[in-house]
Amino acid sequence: MQHENGKIIIAPDELQQKILEILMKYGVKQKDAKIVADTIVEAEMRGVKSHGINMLPAYLRRIKDGGINIKVEPTIIKEKDFITLIDANGGFGQVAGEMATKIAIEKARKYSLSWIGVRNSNHCGMLAYYTEKIAHAGLIGIMLVNANPTVAPYGGMEAVLGTNPISVSIPTKNIPIILDMATSSVAKAKIYRAKELNEKINPEWAIDENGYPTDDPSKAINGVLTPLGGPKGFGLAIIVDVIAGILNNSGFSHYVTSVHKDTTKSQNAGLTIISVSLESFLELETYYQKVNELINLIKASKPRPGFDTIYLPGEIEAMNREKAIKKGLEIDENILNAAFESR
Ligand SMILES: NC(=O)c1ccc[n+]([C@@H]2O[C@H](COP(=O)([O-])OP(=O)(O)OC[C@H]3O[C@@H](n4cnc5c(N)ncnc54)[C@H](O)[C@@H]3O)[C@@H](O)[C@H]2O)c1
Repeated sequence: MQHENGKIIIAPDELQQKILEILMKYGVKQKDAKIVADTIVEAEMRGVKSHGINMLPAYLRRIKDGGINIKVEPTIIKEKDFITLIDANGGFGQVAGEMATKIAIEKARKYSLSWIGVRNSNHCGMLAYYTEKIAHAGLIGIMLVNANPTVAPYGGMEAVLGTNPISVSIPTKNIPIILDMATSSVAKAKIYRAKELNEKINPEWAIDENGYPTDDPSKAINGVLTPLGGPKGFGLAIIVDVIAGILNNSGFSHYVTSVHKDTTKSQNAGLTIISVSLESFLELETYYQKVNELINLIKASKPRPGFDTIYLPGEIEAMNREKAIKKGLEIDENILNAAFESR
């Protein structure tokens, strides 16, 4: 571990071990602690800082207050052919998410398609963690997760919907294409960061308490986020709330609570993972050759002024990962200290 201008450079393995030790001190079973530590380190490696080590203090608080039940195992409560419904039983979202991913892969191999729901879950972190595994298994992965309300409906000014993220992973011959995005204009963590750095924000990201666009992060924090692309993100957020929340008989809208608040009870979030086998549709060789051609067409197209290169979804994150393996992870000292001292 090295210190450099308010940053700490730490090897991914070392960070993983430290998180594992902290979680186990809190009584988390080793196998569960390993999954949670893995998701956090993967998010840091991919540069998805909003879902990395900064989340650890919130998880520890929830363990202490009972909001994350570390004694339970997720259980299968319904199963029919390629469909499985899991109850996370108020445990770690990461543990239920990992179990859902494994079943999604096994069932898509057996039935060509799988649809796995999870109810009564806590925060599961970065969705790409799960969908990337599905792509590496040679399958297309789709994941939807609902979250507590922080986003106004299109045309509205009250938080009714969550940032309700969607991730889709596409296997290729090289690194998978991984779209992983909130359905709000921006993740709330980016507004908090702008406030810390005393920066203005894009006025399209949020509205203030009176419903007007604002470039002031403090006003945005007291106001609400806007949906991604207006009515389009609004529509996607509703779809996520219905499929991941209502269909799984889990919470929706304000029945899902924040990871940072109501720390004594489960967040009651829902997760859905859908997986599809490629060879059920066409010869694998044809699929890979055509996806490769599409990638080449995109990458060879001319960047517009202000852009040097065209990146595919997940490509920048994969580059961040490579860099982290070679040079270690660069983490704000304050954030790392807050996580390690929260014991
Ligand atoms: N578990 C939860 O409750 C929850 C809720 C909300 C968000 N999240 C997570 O938050 C994370 C961040 O979400 P976000 O919406 O802020 O992501 P983002 O805006 O950083 O990225 C969204 C997508 O755009 C792609 N992208 C970004 N810049 C690009 C570029 N220059 N060229 C091409 N593609 C580019 C990324 O690869 C990614 O697939 C995600 O991992 C998501 O799963 C989780």
